[in-house]
Amino acid sequence: RIAAGAAAVAALLVDVPDFPEAGVVFKDVTPLLADAAGFAATVAALAEAGRGDDGSVVVDKVVGMEARGFLFGTPVAQALGVGFVPVRKAGKLPREVHEQSYALEYGEATLAVHVDGVAPGERVLVVDDVLATGGTAVATRALVERCGAQVVGFALLLELTFLPGRAALGETPVLTLHQV
Ligand code: PRP
Repeated sequence: RIAAGAAAVAALLVDVPDFPEAGVVFKDVTPLLADAAGFAATVAALAEAGRGDDGSVVVDKVVGMEARGFLFGTPVAQALGVGFVPVRKAGKLPREVHEQSYALEYGEATLAVHVDGVAPGERVLVVDDVLATGGTAVATRALVERCGAQVVGFALLLELTFLPGRAALGETPVLTLHQV
């Protein structure tokens, strides 16, 4: 399943040069989303990160980050038969939240999760589209931990290996389907 998902991502991610600014090659996931078979293969592959060696589901929740983490995290949660919890940019969630700030190239960003989004002791799979610096993923793991829960794995479509995202995640297992 992971090989099939990796093949779909390799075939359907589209490079867009100079977006959103000159010198940046943007990886567009919209052609992958629009391809029913490719999207299904990608979701099935990401969901493998939430299964044990015998195929049983080993997570209680999937957490996905705004915005593209929602596109992949929600179907992964459905595939695993567990609930989905959104991590959103600050100011979007309506009830009591934990907030976590992290450094961007210029400035800072803040992510939030409902305090009862993940229950104490739950095991969480974090799903997103891209692992770049790892700032988003590290902040998300901190939010899960502040709920008293544990991130047991990360599953992402794409890993930018020229950035230190994987190292930033330390010992937590990381599945990426495609690396550039
Ligand atoms: C992108 C991407 C990841 C994050 C990866 O999100 O979807 O969430 O950046 O970068 P990092 O590893 O350096 O933190 P973005 O902030 O562009 O949000 P969006 O999905 O709402 O466009």
